[in-house]
Amino acid sequence: MTARIFVLNGPNLNLLGHRKPEIYGHTTLADIEAQLRARAEQLGMEIEFLQSNHEGTLVDEIQRARTEADAIIINPAAYTHTSVALHDALESAEKPVVEVHLSNIHRREEFRHHSFVSPQATAIIAGAGAYGYTMALEFLHQHLG
Ligand code: DQA
Repeated sequence: MTARIFVLNGPNLNLLGHRKPEIYGHTTLADIEAQLRARAEQLGMEIEFLQSNHEGTLVDEIQRARTEADAIIINPAAYTHTSVALHDALESAEKPVVEVHLSNIHRREEFRHHSFVSPQATAIIAGAGAYGYTMALEFLHQHLG
């Protein structure tokens, strides 16, 4: 059976490539999606890729993942540091979760050091840039068997 992975992206990640390139790089979210789709095809996996600036939409997608996905890759962006709702949704999803951050949040401002998502994460990747998404997919390929 083909593994189906939901790849969820939080607020402002639609601006990647333009937003603070010294921190987030020049790769756009569309580039990341294309790279990930290519790798997913090689690995025989299926991805559903989504970005939203709205916390409730991300909660809805995580709830959908509960029945429609085998695992979740999530870059919750700023909601990482604020959202009990994402924490609770991920807990209820009962799926493997990989938390991805383009930047190393622990080398940045103190308010970025705490993640409400990490306690629900199977694995956490931070600071690997856009490649972190590919790493997450490769991990899940191995993890799901
Ligand atoms: C981010 C890090 C967050 O602190 C920030 O709010 C983002 C992006 C990252 O990918 O490095 O929007 O999740």
